[in-house]
Amino acid sequence: MSKQFDVVVIGGGPGGYIAAIRAAQLGFNVACIDEWKNDKGGPAPGGTCTNVGCIPSKALLQSSEHYEQAAHHFGEHGITLDNLKMDVAKMVGRKNTVVKQNNDGILYLFKKNKVSFFHGRGSFAKAVEGGYEVNVAGAANETLVAKNVIVATGSNARALPGAAFDEEKILSNDGALRIGAVPAKLGVIGSGVIGLEMGSVWRRLGSEVTILEAMPTFLAAADEGVAKEALKAFQKQGLKFEFGAKISKVDASGEGVIVSYANAKGEEQTLAVDKLIVSIGRVANTIGLNPEAVGLKLDERGAIVVDDECRTNLPGVWAVGDVVRGPMLAHKAEEEGVAVAERIAGQHGHVNFATIPWVIYTSPEIAWVGRTEQQLKADGVAYKAGQFPFMANGRARALGDTTGFVKFLADAKTDEILGVHIVGPFASELISEAVVAMEFKASAEDIARICHAHPSLSEATKEAALAVDKRTLNF
Ligand code: FAD
Ligand code: NAI
Repeated sequence: MSKQFDVVVIGGGPGGYIAAIRAAQLGFNVACIDEWKNDKGGPAPGGTCTNVGCIPSKALLQSSEHYEQAAHHFGEHGITLDNLKMDVAKMVGRKNTVVKQNNDGILYLFKKNKVSFFHGRGSFAKAVEGGYEVNVAGAANETLVAKNVIVATGSNARALPGAAFDEEKILSNDGALRIGAVPAKLGVIGSGVIGLEMGSVWRRLGSEVTILEAMPTFLAAADEGVAKEALKAFQKQGLKFEFGAKISKVDASGEGVIVSYANAKGEEQTLAVDKLIVSIGRVANTIGLNPEAVGLKLDERGAIVVDDECRTNLPGVWAVGDVVRGPMLAHKAEEEGVAVAERIAGQHGHVNFATIPWVIYTSPEIAWVGRTEQQLKADGVAYKAGQFPFMANGRARALGDTTGFVKFLADAKTDEILGVHIVGPFASELISEAVVAMEFKASAEDIARICHAHPSLSEATKEAALAVDKRTLNF
């Protein structure tokens, strides 16, 4: 006997669970299917983000940052610690508790919003009159029927050819968040977001970290000035980088892992490490979804093909988040989930791709919204730039963290803000002001004329806006 719903959501990550909640708020009878299992085999909704992504990585980043502060920076504040110790098992245990709190929070939200949750794998069975039949294979097997199906099945880590993840020595993000003891030597392939965040965690805890990057440049997506400043800071902290590295072999047959590669000059090199994190991007996940049963169209890379509004080639079937085009970010997935639920309700759901913020949670943090200086040049846009260093900000000095700057890019003629780029303390929080400003099509002058609390890091944002007109007050 099948169960009838208005909306069935396949996948309970940030795209899926938020879409389910929003659809329920709009009055629909909603089911959400998610297959993630906790270590006891029970449900663990929240997807990559909650289980092996955003949340656990930030928990470990925080613990390792506390350790780094206690070991190297408390002294400046007149605080000395004897006998400082680190308990990695406890750190990982705390991280697991934070994850569980988030899993439980989502189950609570499903109950609160009357979303029916099904723990198991969802797959398309067939199109039926007025909708689709979706099978759930789990503790209990079920058949659900709905007029609207939202696919939010996320993504998986991409492996290096010939070096499958064993999660013991060759680690994806999953294994990288479960390392039980600090490896003396840690290798990282890819100097992208995961490589930098995970490399930072284990470097702070004492690993010698070497990052091998295929591209000749660092963080190509970030503003060049920001990337340069961040690289300088990371190298000073002790992260080692090799750019232009061409990996030829990964050998994990011995005690550790030996990576063979050609460096930028074409010279053959080897890197011997205890563990290797491979973070070279992620691929859309449709494993087990059975898209063929209904003729759901995928592109050549396996992502579900959608239009600007997340409509697939099938009427009533939508897809959001990492499984479709666009940046693989939790907040992008959430925004798409909300917009789709609203479109199903006949409303005008909207996602502004031009104002999606990016944040890299390293120390210093990196955050940006809008276009970079190199993009504006490539687009032939006449712009003005204004920059203010945290070195000249009173709160940053009091914090003891003066690395980096805030940079504004504004249209040369209209002064409209085209991009804001931050490298420095709490960049992840500061960027919100820039997102709001860009959503409201603010000019740099608008930010420059707004009263910012003193002493605060946000004064650096105001000063950078003033710098666009070459009239900083404190620099
Ligand atoms: P997912 O979160 O991957 O969720 C998909 C869910 O669907 C999973 O639970 C999966 O089990 C389930 N599923 C798949 N197929 C089926 C099926 N057939 N039936 C039932 N269930 C199924 N983004 C940020 O914005 N900020 C960050 O700080 C950040 N940090 C990250 C750190 C790491 C280490 C990683 C790996 C990623 C990070 N991301 C971050 C990216 C973020 O995790 C993803 O963009 C986000 O999780 C995508 O959400 P989603 O809902 O599309 O997919
Ligand atoms: P990424 O796309 O950020 O970086 C991958 C890096 O690996 C690139 O620099 C690329 O040039 C390099 N690379 C690719 N192939 C290589 C090879 N064969 N050898 C050496 N280098 C190679 O991907 P990453 O770090 O795996 O993260 C995946 C995604 O997860 C991110 O793009 C982001 O969308 C999301 N994420 C977001 C976070 C955040 O918002 N703070 C944190 C972590 C992940």
